[in-house]
Amino acid sequence: MESETHILLLPYPVQGHINPMLQFSKRLASKGLRVTFITTTSVRNSIQANASSSINFETISDGSEEVQTVETTYQTLERFQSKVSQSLAKLIERQNSSKYPPKFVVYDSFLTWALDVARQHGLDGAPFFTQPCMVNAIYYHAYQGAIQMPLEEGSSISLPSMPSLGINDMPSFLHDTGLYPDVLKLVVNQFSNLQDVNWLLCNTFDNLEDEVVNWMANHWPIKTIGPTIPSIYLDKQLEDDKEYGLNLFKPNMDTCMKWLNTKEVGSVVYTSFGSLAALGEKQMEEITWGLKNSNCNFLWVVRESEVKKLPKKFLHETTEKGLIVSWCPQLEVLDHKAIGCFMTHCGWNSTLEALSLGVPMVAMPQWTDQPTNAKFIVDVWKVGVRIKLNEKGIATKEEIELCIREVIEGKRWKEMKRNSLKWKKLAKEAMDKGGSSDKNIDEFVAKLAHS
Ligand code: UDX
Repeated sequence: MESETHILLLPYPVQGHINPMLQFSKRLASKGLRVTFITTTSVRNSIQANASSSINFETISDGSEEVQTVETTYQTLERFQSKVSQSLAKLIERQNSSKYPPKFVVYDSFLTWALDVARQHGLDGAPFFTQPCMVNAIYYHAYQGAIQMPLEEGSSISLPSMPSLGINDMPSFLHDTGLYPDVLKLVVNQFSNLQDVNWLLCNTFDNLEDEVVNWMANHWPIKTIGPTIPSIYLDKQLEDDKEYGLNLFKPNMDTCMKWLNTKEVGSVVYTSFGSLAALGEKQMEEITWGLKNSNCNFLWVVRESEVKKLPKKFLHETTEKGLIVSWCPQLEVLDHKAIGCFMTHCGWNSTLEALSLGVPMVAMPQWTDQPTNAKFIVDVWKVGVRIKLNEKGIATKEEIELCIREVIEGKRWKEMKRNSLKWKKLAKEAMDKGGSSDKNIDEFVAKLAHS
């Protein structure tokens, strides 16, 4: 029988926000909800072929098709809000007169206004946080005015249920306040209209952030529902859930896997800085020599827009030991036995993926939530080391080489690997039948079905 409880999900249109919400959608569908995943026109041309047959897809306009000139961040966010509010309203109106009118909208926590649109049309809604609870809690404290911004150099920040944080452990927007003022407003305002929501869905799991999850749960109806990794890597409850399936970049699948198959167990440094970060030319140069001098095999994702920053000679000199691709099937790569460690920008998805697959990390955070994720990777979960920057803010080739060697072959390798395997087990347990996240999803589905 077809489910009558219909739910809409609206992600923020970047890869790191689409992946977790798409995975959550698949879970909801597997538990009997009728699910519509909404994409907006700016990502319409992405490859959807393998996305999932269990959910419906709808594309609505975000106005990007009419943009003629380069926009500022402010203009992009304003346009997105104004156009998507209208097109979401139209979609709901259309769906309201269909056989299965939707009951609920789950929206990316950055898109606070989606709750108003939902409620104006008789639906309820809940935000979906794609970043960890410790970061959400920090933004909440900032929203409350409990954090003085910009943070002062050398300050140490004490917040409830969290380790003491240095300025470099805080989300970057709180000290680089002048760099991205509109994004700062966006992240802090995630808490601006949540007085009477019944759910705050968060892509994390209880054991990973127990203290801060408990603290948040005293203030908000927060429910952990992660890690949102394809089921095959965790609980295997969802038969066909082998990959995310909605790539904004085209992965070099065969090239990567064939190359990895020729390498020894634990010998490869997988390096990626996610879908957004753009490193400076000097930094790219230091990474190239750091990787080369480590004498390890390396697989490095350099997006097409970044390739011009690579030193010319390097590409020829390293063909034996290194492979550079513009995008890869990251989960398959991390799961490959040849991988020894992951040099990462600590994006939250990459962090959860490494934890869920038991891969130790070399942390090289760039911006946004990544410095805080790095702090927890190193000091709380103890599954990696963090690259120190020099006085010019550069990770030097010597430091990179040192950190790679420490994680892949150093004295602490065993301990980090042991801890990684512990988190892998706990991540799987959280999503397994009766696990903390699985139970929360069940509760959400049951309440919705009976509302
Ligand atoms: C951003 C932020 O950086 C992140 O911290 C935030 O929480 C979400 O949005 P991004 O920088 O792209 O995302 O990093 P990350 O969160 O790690 O997401 C990247 C995703 O792309 C991961 O799911 C990863 O598996 C995938 N990926 C990356 C690939 O599939 N192939 C690649 O080659 C690189």
